[in-house]
Amino acid sequence: MADPAVSRLPADVLREKAAALGCQPEDQSFAVAMDTEDPLHGLREDFHIPKMKDLPPTDPTLVCADDDCVYMCGNSLGLQPKGVRKYLEQDMDSWAKYGVFGHFEGARPWALCDEYVIEQSARIVGARQEEVACMNGLTVNLHLLLVSFYRPTATRHKILIEGKAFPSDHYAMESQIRFHGYDPATSLLLAEPRPGEHTLRTEDIVSLIEREGDAIAVVVFSGVQYYTGQLFNMAAITKAGHSKGCVVGFDLAHAVGNAELHLHDWGVDFACWCTYKYMNSGAGGLAGAFVHENHADATDAPRFVGWWGHQMSTRFQMDNKLDLSPGVNGFRLSNPPPLLVSPLLASLDVFQKTTMADLRRKSVLLTGYLELLIKKFYPKPAAGEVTGRPWVDIITPSDPAQRGCQLSLMFSMPIGSVFTQLERRGVACDKREPNVLRIAPAPLYNSFSDVHRFVSLLGQSLQAAQL
Ligand SMILES: Cc1ncc(COP(=O)(O)O)c(C=O)c1O
Repeated sequence: MADPAVSRLPADVLREKAAALGCQPEDQSFAVAMDTEDPLHGLREDFHIPKMKDLPPTDPTLVCADDDCVYMCGNSLGLQPKGVRKYLEQDMDSWAKYGVFGHFEGARPWALCDEYVIEQSARIVGARQEEVACMNGLTVNLHLLLVSFYRPTATRHKILIEGKAFPSDHYAMESQIRFHGYDPATSLLLAEPRPGEHTLRTEDIVSLIEREGDAIAVVVFSGVQYYTGQLFNMAAITKAGHSKGCVVGFDLAHAVGNAELHLHDWGVDFACWCTYKYMNSGAGGLAGAFVHENHADATDAPRFVGWWGHQMSTRFQMDNKLDLSPGVNGFRLSNPPPLLVSPLLASLDVFQKTTMADLRRKSVLLTGYLELLIKKFYPKPAAGEVTGRPWVDIITPSDPAQRGCQLSLMFSMPIGSVFTQLERRGVACDKREPNVLRIAPAPLYNSFSDVHRFVSLLGQSLQAAQL
């Protein structure tokens, strides 16, 4: 996938910049200089960064209480945009002042409130506005879309997903297969990495689709793999699926707001995403759904329908004669929730100050910086070499075009006590037992100094854990 943000290796760019500054990349002054020249650095001010003292596991004897914590957990839950409170207060004011009239009065009339987040959401996923809806939760949307897009037949009944898909996706596929009377043992096809490898090669995914495609009804991959951080080549997967007559959809939970997406141009059939990770809409935030305009007129496809899928112009005539909206809007079921729209809108206001291309350009360097420091301090020994020191295998692809902002660090030993030590030092990150840390410097609010602090605190934590 040609990615203009990665025309050069980030490590080369960083070393060159350090040399020009007369310092080493591992110097704190280098991180500070990178923040100074980062045109997006100011966006951090649009977010509430939790303080060290407020994170429950922090040990007050080990931190400066009023410092910002080292937040590397945007892959799990994004930080709160400062604009959220104002928008929520507007909603509460409308309710207090107008009661039921708030549906069509106030700052954002509730009956239409989801429309305020469509334009920006569509821009971020590379779609036309009429291809995107914001509704429900991610797994709900996945099911709703599969009701239409998974139409198994005796000869074409399989769903292809990654072997280590996120559990909710795996369960959703199994239950859809069972719902149609098929058996996951024969209808769920899992794409596994080669022995000894952690990530999937695009050529292997494509050849699996070529081999099995005649029996595959739907291919559903994630955009970015939640565990390894691998960014899949969605264009290639879509092309391969279509060439065998399969429907192709994506779960973009870890990709939206993280990678550049071109769902429309890639010809993706459907997609869905949550917004509480890199889209910073808060826990349980409003999810998104995409249906390509090629399917806009497929209103007779099987689906579950609610009144919000009925065309707006006649929706309130209540004559029980369904006049379904075309495309993704026909998948809407319920009236939209303003208290979920508002946090997302506040986050989109920040996204609007930049572009995904610029964010991605920063992200490639920021994550490249994390990679450079980890490789410098915790290099994986050569085969047969015994160092006696802890080391890290970065299981996320080293090619920046095949990853988003997250790096998954696989340690040479169990990570439990190191993780505890990191938490005591005010680091928020994510542990996967027994030995993986997922570290996600989010370019909207993380800085080069955050990455530097993380690596330095990792060193202290390893020492404190006596590893
Ligand atoms: C890749 C992926 N898919 C699905 C989900 C489930 O999302 P939800 O609970 O919002 O339905 C998650 C949650 O983190 C996820 O990471």
